[in-house]
Amino acid sequence: MMKDFINRAASDLVSSKYAIALTGAGISTESGLSDFRGPKGIWTTNKEAEAKAYERYGLFLRDPKAYWEEVLGLKGAHGVFYNELKKANPNPGHYALAELEELGLIRCVITQNIDGLHIKAGSRNVIEYHGSVHKLRCPSCGSRVEFGTIAMDRLPPYCQCGKAMKYDIVHFNEPIPFDVMEKAEKEASECDFMIICGTSAVVYPFAGLPRMAKLSQKSKVKVVEVNADPTLLTHEGISDYFIQGKTGEVLPQIVETVRRTLDRK
Ligand code: APR
Repeated sequence: MMKDFINRAASDLVSSKYAIALTGAGISTESGLSDFRGPKGIWTTNKEAEAKAYERYGLFLRDPKAYWEEVLGLKGAHGVFYNELKKANPNPGHYALAELEELGLIRCVITQNIDGLHIKAGSRNVIEYHGSVHKLRCPSCGSRVEFGTIAMDRLPPYCQCGKAMKYDIVHFNEPIPFDVMEKAEKEASECDFMIICGTSAVVYPFAGLPRMAKLSQKSKVKVVEVNADPTLLTHEGISDYFIQGKTGEVLPQIVETVRRTLDRK
């Protein structure tokens, strides 16, 4: 059964004209990082941490210094999580998507993950929809700098425009930066194939992208999910088919099947 779906995904990819990948925390669990809503997810197991996550953007607006003390792990535990992300390495799932881009079969990855692992794996066109723990961003003027290129001995770090900078991480209740939102929506409305990997697809506006693709007038879009468990997209029939399994196992098999198909051409 799974083999049939893997063959189908490979065939759909090869015959697509504009394929894109969407990913969530599930693709990074095989890199040793926790997801959020899986059985051992951070929010599943620690409701207090989830509640604090909803307050983080408000903390930045109220007290940028206290925000930085928290996210750098100087106070509280969540900062440790961000530091873990920085040390993680890509897994076969990330490398598989980078290879599909290399083969010219996917145009981009739109990820909710802030761990930077798609870029570390070699993907070049990555839209970091919820930002990146490797960058700082000024909410006022929108400029971004790599973490480590700006002095952090005095908190908060300030932008050249004079305003306090934050992690380039989109926290709950924080708007998606317009540049990112615009690029992601363009890709979702242009694509004719979307592979969605390792996301529960419950957080908007990201979760709206598959629906936007389906409703776009451009072409009949095929949507496939690769996930440990079915999601709302599965149940609502937004995805045309669902491959149940680990992204680190399924995606390399899709690449292998694609390579065999291309070799026969
Ligand atoms: N392979 C496939 N699926 C997996 C794997 C794996 N190795 N590991 C976990 N999963 C699945 C889980 O079963 C779950 O359905 O991936 C999904 C991850 O869902 P979430 O934990 O909700 O993560 P995500 O969808 O990325 O969350 C979206 O919520 O908290 C915010 O900003 C945070 O970007 C995050 C957003």
